[in-house]
Amino acid sequence: MFRKILYPTDFSDVSKKALGFLKQFKKSGVEEICVLHVIDKKDVQFSYLYFFDENSADGNVEQKLKNEAEREIKEIEGKLKAWGFKVSSRVTFGIPIKEILSAEKKEDISIIVIGSHGKSDLEEMLLGSVSDNIIRKCNKPVLVVKR
Ligand SMILES: Nc1ncnc2c1ncn2[C@@H]1O[C@H](COP(=O)(O)OP(=O)(O)OP(=O)(O)O)[C@@H](O)[C@H]1O
Ligand SMILES: [Mg+2]
Repeated sequence: MFRKILYPTDFSDVSKKALGFLKQFKKSGVEEICVLHVIDKKDVQFSYLYFFDENSADGNVEQKLKNEAEREIKEIEGKLKAWGFKVSSRVTFGIPIKEILSAEKKEDISIIVIGSHGKSDLEEMLLGSVSDNIIRKCNKPVLVVKR
């Protein structure tokens, strides 16, 4: 029924809980997982304003965030491959919901698996803004893993 899953992740605890659920899809015939991390434009601007040290030898903020994201993605890929999935993964820059919608259109996916919340994880919010928008705007079925 489901062949390919889109798994957008912000590497938060809730998002990692969602990763744990992917394992159970193996038995139901899922072959492939597309892992997507979007480096939020807002986070890049924020890092430039508050953290970036022009004199440091670390390179620019975009490169630093990309390197960190790729490290996280490698770990996730390792797990998914060990569970027997084919994996394709991507790190992009932009607005998370826009990138996720575009991946939904480009990739021939069957279902999207997300966390109800992410990095902010505000107590009073029923859903985070990204998960809220995925549920509203994506056409494919969405599995929301609660925190
Ligand atoms: N930058 C991102 N790249 C890929 N997936 C993301 C990204 N941000 C959020 N997600 C996905 O959406 C889920 C919900 O995160 P969301 O950002 O909506 O919650 P939040 O951080 O608690 O709230 P908000 O961002 O509105 O302050 C995450 O568990 C993850 O699956
Ligand atoms: Mg968030």
